[in-house]
Amino acid sequence: METLVTPGSNAEIQLLPDLEAISYKAAEIFLNLSQSSLPSKERLAVALSGGSTPRRFYRLLGSDPYRNQVEWHRIHFFWVDERCVPKEYEESNFKTVYDPLLSRVPVPEENIHRIRGEEGPEEAAREYDDAIKAFFGGTEIPVFDLIILGMGEDGHTASLFPGSEALREKKRLAVPVYKGGQEIHRVTLTFPVLNNASQVLFLVSGRSKSKVLAEIFEGGDNRNRYPAGLVAPAHGKITWLIDREAAEKLREI
Ligand code: 6PG
Repeated sequence: METLVTPGSNAEIQLLPDLEAISYKAAEIFLNLSQSSLPSKERLAVALSGGSTPRRFYRLLGSDPYRNQVEWHRIHFFWVDERCVPKEYEESNFKTVYDPLLSRVPVPEENIHRIRGEEGPEEAAREYDDAIKAFFGGTEIPVFDLIILGMGEDGHTASLFPGSEALREKKRLAVPVYKGGQEIHRVTLTFPVLNNASQVLFLVSGRSKSKVLAEIFEGGDNRNRYPAGLVAPAHGKITWLIDREAAEKLREI
């Protein structure tokens, strides 16, 4: 594994062979965070993504040896975004996390703060915004201990798509997302939340991501065209776990 720290920033890139290695590394980071933080903190708040990339990571966390080493009752689970479908649907990000992970570990139900996508984008976003504020006890921008992100081939992250209105949100923590007319109905966390996290972990795998990744890391101002390139926690750390295929167009690696 190679580690590169991008100059002048708090971003670290870890280059790994493949998705399997990314998944193990992510599980290790999660475990380290829980073991190093929980003695001093009462609880941890993490926000997880859907998509295909983190599935193996969730499965690992939900199995031995990870499963037995985490104090699950002290971890609170949130979602980075959600599709507006019932929670039993394959497309549900809740299901993406619940089946391989949350259904297999002793996490109390009250620690699971899902986005109620089935209520529709507006209502679900409003409720989720309120739920986050209630959990963190105030109207300030919350500080998540860990946010797991993925990146789409178009450079979107969470459900923050290039050119969408949600990118400009400054106040709300969660907003409704409509894309392609009626095609996509979702709810997403906003940049103020992503960029206030203590730690952000991007998992990026596969050749189809390589072009956008190269533009984000080497494209100068071009990076701003891609929502994933706009994630830069003000006081936190950001780590990109990238596999060989995704990194194939990065010159200096
Ligand atoms: C989702 C996401 C989304 C995802 C990227 C990457 O629910 O789909 O939260 O932002 O992380 O689209 O998806 P893959 O991991 O499937 O490539």
